[in-house]
Amino acid sequence: MEKATYFEKVPVNTPGGGYDVCVGRNTLEVTLPPLLASLMPNSVAVISHPGLLELYGERLRFLIEASFAGNVRTLFYSFPDGEEHKDLETLKEAYGALLRFGITRYDVLLAFGGGVVGDLAGFVAATYMRGLRYLQVPTTLMAMVDSSIGGKVGIDLPEGKNLVGAFYQPEAVLVDVDYLATLPAREMRSGLAEVAKYGFLYDEGILVEMERWQDGLPDEDYDFVPLVMACARQKASVVSEDERDLSGRRARLNYGHTFGHALEAATGYRALRHGEAVALGMIMAARMAELFWSFATGFTERHLRILLPLLKEVRLPRGLTADDVMEYMERDKKKRGELSLILLMRWQAPVLVNSPPLDLVRRAVDEVLKEVCSR
Ligand SMILES: NC(=O)c1ccc[n+]([C@@H]2O[C@H](COP(=O)([O-])OP(=O)(O)OC[C@H]3O[C@@H](n4cnc5c(N)ncnc54)[C@H](O)[C@@H]3O)[C@@H](O)[C@H]2O)c1
Ligand SMILES: [Zn+2]
Repeated sequence: MEKATYFEKVPVNTPGGGYDVCVGRNTLEVTLPPLLASLMPNSVAVISHPGLLELYGERLRFLIEASFAGNVRTLFYSFPDGEEHKDLETLKEAYGALLRFGITRYDVLLAFGGGVVGDLAGFVAATYMRGLRYLQVPTTLMAMVDSSIGGKVGIDLPEGKNLVGAFYQPEAVLVDVDYLATLPAREMRSGLAEVAKYGFLYDEGILVEMERWQDGLPDEDYDFVPLVMACARQKASVVSEDERDLSGRRARLNYGHTFGHALEAATGYRALRHGEAVALGMIMAARMAELFWSFATGFTERHLRILLPLLKEVRLPRGLTADDVMEYMERDKKKRGELSLILLMRWQAPVLVNSPPLDLVRRAVDEVLKEVCSR
């Protein structure tokens, strides 16, 4: 059956650049040729992973070359899957590949993949020859609703995640939800945790929708366009107001993330996908809100209902304790001067709480770890 073709646009307006997030099906077929024709590069450098190029590389080449009746050269650079490759080594290799191919400042880079590809390729774009124009083409749900929008790009250092980077906005974000058809279920669930985050923070409709699903996932023929649009709208609006994460608005998107980052670090970045750590972190934040404000009730229960199915494939290391997690929360506190948490006061009413009582934080972590491990 022919795929339907349609897309909708969400505008992003930042001092660093204005652009559209185009969300739909067959999006690249209709947006990529005219976009490239307007940017007029001599070459296009695609950065991706080998498996993704196997699935989608030929189609991409066709669409890129169709834009110029064959008068454009296409470089495909791919690096292995995994957060551990979002590093200096890959960065150096990517610069080398671009140089050898003769990519210049007037060319265009295309990031084709999940958040790992988007972050690394975006940083290549920000720095190679003082900056290339680039397009984000996210292929994971996580990247479609979060990492591809807003221009945060960068790599990890051995000392920690995302320690080197830039704010560098793309020319456009092109989202084709049909790429989700090949995404493994665990990656889908991890992305859905970030989707739920927009629900808790801003959009009750998202929560109601997710509560209808069996087992944390929608039916196979589910149309993701409205859901991805709803999230993209929220992310676009937040980064348009606070591009550089200075006013506190963008920081709200870190709901569940202080707990989540500590959980990722305490489990050696191996046991949990990012979204899974955030899901656990949001349950902890919900429990913390209940412990902190006597009027907050029912938060943990609803978070568990929506998020527990997303944790289906998680096996937490035996012996992981609240103290292990608190140790990393303390490190975060030292780095920033104080610990701060985004907590809900009501549904869709997040606030920043500075220096929350640590005994309550520890209790929230402990109770949620026990609750999740006992299921
Ligand atoms: N820049 C930001 O604002 C921001 C925000 C959130 C997360 N991030 C970063 O994003 C990264 C995580 O991204 P992620 O969750 O997308 O993981 P990922 O990029 O590692 O992708 C997950 C896996 O899915 C595979 N994959 C991707 N698309 C596929 C498809 N359509 N079909 C089949 N397989 C596919 C990939 O090859 C990979 O193995 C982290 O490095 C995180 O720091 C950045
Ligand atoms: Zn996140």
